[in-house]
Parts: sequence; structure tokens; C-alpha cells
Amino acid sequence: MTMQTTLSSQDLMQMEDVYGAHNYHPLPVVLSKGEGVYVWDVEGKKYFDFLSAYSAVNQGHCHPRILKALNDQAANLTLTSRAFYNDMLGKYEKYITNLMKYDKVLPMNTGVEAVETALKLARKWAYEKKGVPTNQAKIIFAKSNFHGRTLAVISGSTDPDSKGGFGPYMPGYEVIDYNNLDQLEKALQDNNVAGFIVEPIQGEAGVVVPDSDYLIKAKALCEKYNALLIADEVQTGIARTGTLLATCGNCSCANQCERNPEVRPDILILGKALSGGVFPVSAVLADDPIMLCIKPGEHGSTFGGNPLACAVAIAALEVVKDENLAQNAKKLGIIFRERMQGLVDKSDLVTLVRGRGLLNAIVINDTETSKTAWNICMKLRDNGLLAKPTHGNIIRFAPPLVMTEDELHQCCDIIEQTILNFNV
Ligand SMILES: Cc1ncc(COP(=O)(O)O)c(C=O)c1O
Repeated sequence: MTMQTTLSSQDLMQMEDVYGAHNYHPLPVVLSKGEGVYVWDVEGKKYFDFLSAYSAVNQGHCHPRILKALNDQAANLTLTSRAFYNDMLGKYEKYITNLMKYDKVLPMNTGVEAVETALKLARKWAYEKKGVPTNQAKIIFAKSNFHGRTLAVISGSTDPDSKGGFGPYMPGYEVIDYNNLDQLEKALQDNNVAGFIVEPIQGEAGVVVPDSDYLIKAKALCEKYNALLIADEVQTGIARTGTLLATCGNCSCANQCERNPEVRPDILILGKALSGGVFPVSAVLADDPIMLCIKPGEHGSTFGGNPLACAVAIAALEVVKDENLAQNAKKLGIIFRERMQGLVDKSDLVTLVRGRGLLNAIVINDTETSKTAWNICMKLRDNGLLAKPTHGNIIRFAPPLVMTEDELHQCCDIIEQTILNFNV
């Protein structure tokens, strides 16, 4: 079947509406091209992408080096399954474990699959190493978390939209407040706890940044009670927050990451930008005493660790290193928050800016159920910048990390003008 190429944005949105499930509520813009920090719609209008596919396109759209790796590898071998070895997986495993300083990696595809993997791994470790009685292992979650959409994962969610109507839920979970160490310590006193899963910054919840010592102390508590700290860096990882990982904290690495992290999670979960947004590549990293609890036949995925993913992920990580994307995110993040703070001081419509590196959000002075943030995003779109509200009155700003300082100022000008001229 040949597809008409002259369909308008309206036609294409209508098509999605008729033939696709209604599980998303996209901003009405239909994109057909991307390059670096820019995307173009079907009618040819150019926009700054200020969401980066929820931090998956950190390296910028269609990065030539990543696409070259994709094309070269696709011409040779794309998928073998893990029934056989392939000539890329070992190279990728060596590369990423050296970079992240873990003994082993378990490759998966989407972020939520990696989260599931981490939860299974923690349970297995609890039975084999901690001596938790069969089927009694518990996992601690933080309120307002977002770890993805599977049943096991939404069972730990506190978001009624994500969770409601999908029960019965996975047993063996406890949910505590984010950024609350007293509650964490109390929960960890249960000897059946396998681990605590946490986002270093809660992205989906509206870029909620915990106290600067929260993760350090959480890790110390996990150690004290012999439980695993599981860091979900699917959104915060791969340079987004101004360091290779958000758990690196205030490390001072220059051009090459020295991996002297503030906090070293027992299990590290990565996804999204691990492929530069080219296709789903995720990973779980841990040291041997944990990772080797899973044995052949106990976990896997047909596509996990496929040669195409391995080639793309190596290229995507090389780009982060060679183009100093963490350093750029750190530098531009400071400028961005300064500019947005200027806006907070000038406008009654914005009450707060927060974030780290180039993962930031502004809080709109209206209720969570109001349409104000959505309407601002519509105006931003009209003015050539794409962003989306999260949780009603919060707008997340996460541009590709290849942005220049000049481009960032252009974006800040658009945001400032849009907000200052906005009539509720
Ligand atoms: C922190 C975090 N974990 C997990 C996920 C799930 O990733 P995916 O949508 O690739 O399954 C997301 C997605 O936004 C996320 O932000």
C-alpha cells in the first residue's frame, strides 16, 4: 500500500484519533523531521524541542554519529536473540561497565523493562543473599514516583491516573514519602526489605529535587539495614542533570567522567538517552554478588542486547563524552534557571523554577486542574518552542544537551515573551 505524502497535520491527528488508542493527550503538533535541537512539523514550521522526548534525545535529533552506527550495524546484523552470541554484545558490555564502573550489565529495551528487571534482581538477591523467606521480599517505593507503566511498576505508583482501574496490584510493596529519611529508616527495619527504588530527581512528578544529602543518607541507611539502593536514572541519567548520572552529585569531572560518584547505587537503571532516542535501549547495572543471582533461563528479552542496540548505545555514550554534554548541561542549566528566576521575579504567572542541569521545571500560578499550563504550552508552540505540562500546573523544560548558549537565550526569550504576553 502506498501512503499519501501530502496529508496535513489535521489529517494526521485525525488518523491517530480514529485508529489509535486514546492513551495519550499530545500537544497538537505533528512532527516529521528533527535535527539537533530543532524539529519541524508537517507544514514545515520549525521549533525548538524543549522536551527531548522526555530526555531520550539528549544527544540531539538524528545525531549523525549515532545514525552512522545504526546504519553500519543494520547493514551487517540486527538481531540474533540471546540463543547465540553476537560480535557486538560483549564489546558494548565491556564499554558500558567500564564507563559506569559496575561489574556487569543486563541489557533490556524500554525503561520500564529495566525497572522490572531491577525489581526482580533485588528480590532474587534478597532470597539468595539476605535470607528473606520465600515470597516475603519487600520493595520500598517513594510517593509520586514514575517508573513506567507495567503492572508490577504501577503497583508501586501513587498516581491515580497511572494506577486506578488496573488492580489487583503486586503485593510486597511499601510506599513512603520522597525525601523523607525517617520514613525510609523505619521501613528498612523490616528484615524482609530487598531494596529501595528511587529517582534521584522525580522528573514526571514535576522535576522535584530532594535535599542535597538525601541520596547519600538513603544509601547509608540501605547499607546499615542490608538492603539495596536501586536508582532509576532512566530520565536523570546520561548527562541530563549536568553530570553523567544524577547520582554522581557534585563531582568535578572535566572532559572525561572520572566516576567518583557521590552515591553509588547497588543497582543502576538506565534507558532513554542510552540510545540517543534512536530506539529503545535500556540497561541494569550491578556488581557480581547481585547480578549473578540471576541465572540462565531466569530472565531475558528477545531484543535485549541486540547488535543494533549495542552499536547505537556505544555511539550515543561516545557522543556524550566527546561533545562534553554533561558539562554543557551544567553550564546552560545555571543560565536557564537564572533567566527563569528573572521571569519569576517579573511575572505573577510563574511562582518557581527548579531543577538541575538541563532538567528543569517552572510552576504556574494556578491549580493542578487548571488549563493554564496547557494553554501556555500552546502559545509556546505558536512561538516556536515545544514543551508539555506535567501534573497540570508544572511545565517541564528539557532541551537536547547539544544546545548552544545562544540558542538557549533564544529559547529563554521565547518563554519570557510568551509568559509576559499571556492572558489567562
Ligand atoms: C524515571 C523513569 N523510569 C522509567 C520510565 C519508563 O521508561 P519507558 O517509557 O521507556 O518504559 C520513565 C519514563 O518516563 C522514567 O522517567
